[in-house]
Amino acid sequence: MKKLFSLLIIASLLACEKTVEVSLENRGLIADKAMVVSAHPLASEVGKQIMEQGGNAIDASIATQLALAVVYPSAGNIGGGGFMISRMANGDIDALDFREKAPLAGDRDMYLDENGEVIPRASVRGHLAAGVPGTVAGLEAAHRKYGKLDWKALVQPAIDLAANGWVLTAKEASGLNGNRNNFIEYNTVQPNFFLAEEGQRWKEGDTVSIPELAATLTLIRDQGRDGFYKGQTAQLIVEEMERGNGLISLEDLEKYQAVWRKPVTGEYRDYGFISMPPPSSGGIALSQLLHAVEPFNLSEMGFHSTEAIHLIVEAERRAYADRAEHLGDPDFFEVPQAGLIDKSYTKNRMSDFDPTQATPSSEISAGAPAPQESEETTHLSVVDPWGNAVSVTTTLNGGMGSKVFVGGAGFLLNNEMDDFSIKPGVPNSYGLVGGEANAIAPEKRMLSSMTPTIVTKDDKLFMVVGTPGGSTIITSVFQTIINVVDFDMTMQEAVLAPRFHHQWLPDVIQVERSALDSARMQPLMDMGHKFRRVGKIGRVDAILVLPNGQLEGGADNRGDDTASGY
Ligand code: DON
Repeated sequence: MKKLFSLLIIASLLACEKTVEVSLENRGLIADKAMVVSAHPLASEVGKQIMEQGGNAIDASIATQLALAVVYPSAGNIGGGGFMISRMANGDIDALDFREKAPLAGDRDMYLDENGEVIPRASVRGHLAAGVPGTVAGLEAAHRKYGKLDWKALVQPAIDLAANGWVLTAKEASGLNGNRNNFIEYNTVQPNFFLAEEGQRWKEGDTVSIPELAATLTLIRDQGRDGFYKGQTAQLIVEEMERGNGLISLEDLEKYQAVWRKPVTGEYRDYGFISMPPPSSGGIALSQLLHAVEPFNLSEMGFHSTEAIHLIVEAERRAYADRAEHLGDPDFFEVPQAGLIDKSYTKNRMSDFDPTQATPSSEISAGAPAPQESEETTHLSVVDPWGNAVSVTTTLNGGMGSKVFVGGAGFLLNNEMDDFSIKPGVPNSYGLVGGEANAIAPEKRMLSSMTPTIVTKDDKLFMVVGTPGGSTIITSVFQTIINVVDFDMTMQEAVLAPRFHHQWLPDVIQVERSALDSARMQPLMDMGHKFRRVGKIGRVDAILVLPNGQLEGGADNRGDDTASGY
C-alpha cells in the first residue's frame, strides 16, 4: 500500500513535470527521449540509431566516436586519444582516461638539437610527433564496464561507412584539399583515398571510401582492443614508424591501458559539475574559473559587459598560470589537485583582483596550493532514454594530427607529443607554456585541456557539454555553462554566443571576430587589456535537460555539428 502510494506520488510528480511550460523560442533540436550532438551529421545519426536499437549512452558514444573516426578525419580518430565523463541515471559518475602516452623510447629532450634548441615542428608534424594511441583501448574499456549492446554492433556502422563511402560536406572537402601537400610530404605510403586526382579538388557531395580503414575496423570489431594493439594493425603501425623514424614500438602498443580515474567534482551556485581530472587540466581549471566568478553577480553585470569580461579574463589569467606550473600526468607528477579546487584557494588567488585595472600577466605567477596528501579535437554529448549521460572529447591534436597515415591501415596518427612542454617556457602550438610537471618521460601522458563535463541541478542531470579548441577548450566550456546559468540563454544560444579567451601567456584576450566591437573593447583597453581578433573559438556540442524533461541540443554552427534525437 505504502509502495503504491509512493508510486502514485512519483507518477503525479512526473505528470506535473510534463505540464511545465517551456518556450521553444531560440532553442536547438528538441527531443523527448534521447539525443546525440557531435561534429558530423552522419555520426550523430549512428549514435541515435544505436539508442533506438536499445543501446545506452555509452554504446551510442562508442558508435558515434567510431563513425567520427571515418567521416570526420580531421579529428575523429582511432589513432588519437581522449577522455570520457559519464553520469549514469542512478547518479554514479566516472572518468575514463584514454590519453596518448609518450613512447618508451621518448625522452625529455627528444625535440631539442645538440645545442638545446627546439627542432622546428618536430613535435607537430610527422612520425615523431605521435604518442601511443589510446582511443580503441578507451572505447573497449568503456564498453566492458557500462555497455549494453554487443561490441560488434557498435563497430559495424563505422565499417559500413568506411567500406561503402560517405558524402563529403563542404568543410570536409576543403580540409582534404588544404592538406593535400601535407599528406604527400609526410607519408611514406601515399593515402590515395584522400588525394583528389591530379589537378582536381574535392568538393561538397563527392563520395570517399577507405577500404583499408574498413579492414582495420573489422579487426577491431572481431578482436576488440587486440585488433588494434596486437597482430596486423600493431605490425602496420610499427612498420610505419620504422619507415618514418618514429618511436612507437610493439611493446608500447601492447602495454597501453586506458585508466579509470576519479572525476573532478564541485559546486557552482545551485549546480554541481563533474569533469575530467589530470592528465587533463580541464576539470581543475574549469573548477577554478567557476569558483573565481561565483562571488560576483554575473547576471547583473550582463553578457559581454565590460565588468563581466574583465572579471572572467582575470580569473582565466590566474587559472592558466597555475596550469603551467602545477598540472601534468598524475602518475608521474604530484598534482596538488585538492588544493587547486578548494574554493578558499581560488578566493585567495582572486584577492588582488582589481575591478578597475587589468593585472599584467608578468605580475601573476602560479599560486601555492596546499600540497597533495598522500585536455584538432572533437566532442560529443549523449543522453539516453534512461537518463544516462556521456560527455566524450577525443583528439588527434592538430587538424589531421601528425598528417601521417598508417600505411595499409587507413587511419591517421596523432601529433599529441606537442602537448608536452618540449622545453621549459617554450610555447606549444596553442601558445601554452609549461615546465617540470609536463616534461616528457617514457610512458607519461601529455597534459590536456580537454574538458568533457556534465552539470547537475538538484542532483539531477542538467547539461552535457564539451568542445575542441586546444587551450581555449576550458574557457569555452566555462562560458557555455555561465551563458545558461547566469545569462539565461537557451542551450543553442549558449553554444552559438561569441567567445573570448585569455590563457595568462601570451597576455592578450583572444576574441572571435564577431564577438566584441571596438566600442566594447575600448573601456577594457583603457583598463590595460590587450586584444587579438581570431577566427573561431571552439565547436561546443551540448545537451540541456529542460524543466519538462525534454532535451535541447546545442550544436555549434562553427562546424558541421548536428544534434540528432528522438
Ligand atoms: O589535449 C589537448 O588539450 C589538445 N591536444 C586539444 C587539441 C584541440 O582541441 C584541437 N582542436 N581544435
